[in-house]
Amino acid sequence: MTAATRPVPRAGVLEIEAYVPGKSSAPGVAKVFKLSSNETPLGPSPRAIAAYKACADHLEDYPDGAASELREAIGRAFGLDPNRIVCGAGSDELLNMLARAYLADGDEAIHTTHGFLVYPIATLGAGAKAVVAAESDFTASVDAILAAVTKKTKIVFLANPNNPTGTYISFAEVKRLHRSLPPNVLLVLDAAYAEYVRRNDYESGIELVATSENVVMTRTFSKIHGLAALRLGWMFAPAEVVAAVNRIRGPFNVSAPAIAAGIAAIEDHAHQERAREHNARWLAWLKEEIEKLGLKVTPSVANFLLIHFPQTKGRTAKEADAFLTKRGLILRQVGAYKLPDALRMSVGTEEANRLVVAALAEFLGRTA
Ligand SMILES: Cc1ncc(COP(=O)(O)O)c(C=O)c1O
Repeated sequence: MTAATRPVPRAGVLEIEAYVPGKSSAPGVAKVFKLSSNETPLGPSPRAIAAYKACADHLEDYPDGAASELREAIGRAFGLDPNRIVCGAGSDELLNMLARAYLADGDEAIHTTHGFLVYPIATLGAGAKAVVAAESDFTASVDAILAAVTKKTKIVFLANPNNPTGTYISFAEVKRLHRSLPPNVLLVLDAAYAEYVRRNDYESGIELVATSENVVMTRTFSKIHGLAALRLGWMFAPAEVVAAVNRIRGPFNVSAPAIAAGIAAIEDHAHQERAREHNARWLAWLKEEIEKLGLKVTPSVANFLLIHFPQTKGRTAKEADAFLTKRGLILRQVGAYKLPDALRMSVGTEEANRLVVAALAEFLGRTA
C-alpha cells in the first residue's frame, strides 16, 4: 500500500454533506424578515439579555466548566437531578458528543428520512454508517425504525417534534419504540421544540430517561428561549451516559455569558408563556391562510411550517423562494432534507406572517 501524500480524514468524513444554515440576507432589500432558522420572533427574555451583559466585566475568567448553577436551575425548572444533566454549546454539540461516545467504525445509527441533518453528520463524523428509516406522511414511523435495527445499531436519533416537518409521534409510540429496541441501543430523543407542543399525547421523554438506562433527551436554548447566538443546550441522561459524555466534553464547552443568560431565561416563565401563546396563535393562522391559497401545509406542532408547492413552472418552491426573498421574506429551502418541493417557514412576528401570506397570494396570482 502506498503512503498517502497528504493527511487523509477518517472514513466517512468526506461523505458528509456540510450543513448549510438558513439564509439570513436578501441582497438589495431594506427590511429583512429572517424566517429560515426557527428562531423566536420575540427574542430572548430581557432578564437573559441583562445577565449576558453583566458578564462583560469578567471576560478574563474561565466559566465554571461544570455549569453547576445552570444545571441546578434546569433541575429546579423540570424537577430533575442536576447530576443527570450535561450542558453543551448548543444541542448540536451534545448530539455530536453522543455520537463520538457511542459510535465506532462500522456501527450504525438510525435517523428518519426527513430527520434533522445533524444526525447523519454526527454519525458519519464518528466513522459510523447513517441508516435512514422511511417516514410515513412526513412523520417518523416506529415500525420502520425498528425494521432498520441490526446488530450494528448503536443509536436511534429521533427529533420529536421533527425539523423540518413539524410533525411528532405520541409518547405511547415513543414508549413502544423504546420497548422494542435492544437495551444496548441508545435512543436519543431530540426535543428541541418540546415547549411549543400543545398535544395531550405528547411528552418530551423525561419520564423515559428517568426510568431506563438507554434513553437520552436533548433540549436547546436556541428556540423558545431565543438564545441561539450564545449556543446553549442540555441533555438529561442516565448516570452512565452522563459519565461517558463528560469524559469527552471540552472542559469549558459552555461560555460564562451563555450560562448566565441560560439561568435567567429558564427562570422567566412569563416570557416563555408569551412565546408559546404567540406561536400557538400564528401557527394556526398561517396554516389556515396558506391552505386557503391552495398550498398544502404539513400539520405542525412546532414553531415552523412546511409548505408544499406544485412542480408547475412558475409555482415551484424554488421560484416561490426567489419571489419571497426579493421582498425580504427569507424562508428555508429544504432540498437537503429530501423535500425539494417545499419551503420551511418559521412563525414570525405578526408583520412578517401577514407579509408572507400576502406575498404568497401575489406569487400564486390570487388575492389574499
Ligand atoms: C431538531 C433540532 N435539534 C437540534 C437543533 C440544534 O439546536 P442548537 O441550536 O441547540 O444546537 C435544531 C436546530 O435547528 C433542531 O431543529
